[in-house]
Amino acid sequence: MWLARVLLAAAALAPSTSGTGNMTNKYEQQRYDGWYNNLAHPAWGATEAHLTRKTPPSYSDGVYMMSGDSRPSPRKLSQAFMKGDDGLASLHNRTAMQTFFGQVVSAEILMASEAGCPIEMHKIPIEKCDDMYDAECTGNKFMPFHRANYDKKTGQSPNTPREQQNSMTSWIDASFVYSTKESWVNAMRSFENGSLKMEGHPVFGMPPHNLMRVPMVNAPAPHLLTKLNPERMYLLGDPRTNQNPAFLVMGIVFYRWHNYQAERVREVNPDWSDEACSRPPGGGSSRRCSPSSCTSTCPPSWGSRRSPTPGTSRIYKIGRAHV
Ligand code: HEM
Repeated sequence: MWLARVLLAAAALAPSTSGTGNMTNKYEQQRYDGWYNNLAHPAWGATEAHLTRKTPPSYSDGVYMMSGDSRPSPRKLSQAFMKGDDGLASLHNRTAMQTFFGQVVSAEILMASEAGCPIEMHKIPIEKCDDMYDAECTGNKFMPFHRANYDKKTGQSPNTPREQQNSMTSWIDASFVYSTKESWVNAMRSFENGSLKMEGHPVFGMPPHNLMRVPMVNAPAPHLLTKLNPERMYLLGDPRTNQNPAFLVMGIVFYRWHNYQAERVREVNPDWSDEACSRPPGGGSSRRCSPSSCTSTCPPSWGSRRSPTPGTSRIYKIGRAHV
């Protein structure tokens, strides 16, 4: 199920019986960009699809302009809801692991917060004497805000209100591990025995640094106000993985898991090519699940409000992609 490609490697562990010397062209391969999982609707769940709507849009002009001018500023709300002591231990001795697994799941099906081009700049007002941003009580501070990328063919008339796009596939197809692009995966592949590049031990080593300058998210560090060298980051499938240590750990664990599975496939099928060990048969016909749609193939625990399409909805992501 989840992380389909990684687990499909396990399915390929059954010894081969049909002389699989060159598996490369003999089975259907799943694409990384989410296209063609549903042959009747090939674009469903693919990258750059619109976020789906469960409710009508509420732009201030009904089409394009940001709403919320009369509402309290996000900073004011953040201070009201989130201010308090940090660094407190869990009362029940829980770790943050599941929280960050949650971040993996959200990253797997959603990336819609990146700024568009050209950048659309807005200002988040800061309260006078805000203890972090206006300690000198000037009253003229604001936080810069970029509106999220959207489909430029929308937002021009009431019939086509502005629609934000999802840069990930909304399928749970391990795009967190493998990215959504063949070229990106190729930068990670060693092209030997189906494994991904690893520094040190082939399974328990570390992913390579991003010396090829794959476009990982590299936001300017707030305390330096400049971008740091992209080559300092680890090269992993999701562009955001270097964002925080716990998320990075999750990325490295799944990256290692690929090499572990590729090694097992290779042991059982020593005559298989690098390609076959990397993407074992079955990848093309596997069941893809989308929690954001909750189609009939998904476990009932994912909710009863089913939608026929597998797109990721705005309800899943409350934040920048709303505006
Ligand atoms: C130290 C931990 C974290 C940091 C520094 C962080 C940082 C960020 C940043 C910078 C964004 C982009 C916001 C924007 O540009 O609008 C974002 C978006 C998001 N984050 Fe986090 N995050 C963290 C943990 C989490 C966790 C634990 C979850 C879920 C359990 C999560 C879920 C999300 C979601 C769903 C989005 C929206 C994604 C999108 O629309 O592209 N984050 N986060």
